[in-house]
Amino acid sequence: MHMKTLNADWEALAGQRMEFTRKFYQRLFERYPRYQELFPQELDTQMEKMVEMFSGIARFADHIDIIRPYLVEVGFAHRRLGIDAQDVENFKDVFIETLGELCAGWWNEEHEQAWHQALRI
Ligand code: HEM
Repeated sequence: MHMKTLNADWEALAGQRMEFTRKFYQRLFERYPRYQELFPQELDTQMEKMVEMFSGIARFADHIDIIRPYLVEVGFAHRRLGIDAQDVENFKDVFIETLGELCAGWWNEEHEQAWHQALRI
């Protein structure tokens, strides 16, 4: 169920994933302008990596071991940034909120919970 929910949401975004990611960053920087300086000016590569990562999470949510090495690597990439648990919460909230809007037709508490669960990384 868990995996189906995530997969269904992510699949429904096919063809809109870059748009989704662009919206996500736009909102993140609007709400937390201080994050902007952490990111490179040119966000395209960053956005592709994000899309790739969330595709992995959506596909392997029930077999997280398969993608754990990658998640660990991503975790390392964040160490030098000096971000804390609250920053991660902010990031997740904006991500899930943006996703919820694009999946508005069927979005509900269950979907929201499933994504919160999957992003406890
Ligand atoms: C659940 C939380 C998060 C996820 C899933 C996530 C995901 C990612 C991914 C997949 C990458 C690319 C890693 C690579 O180079 O291969 C990345 C890089 C990065 N993330 Fe995050 N991130 C999260 C939280 C945050 C937060 C809270 C911040 C800052 C406020 C942040 C800032 C950055 C920056 C600055 C980079 C590197 C950009 C660069 O110099 O290439 N991330 N993140």
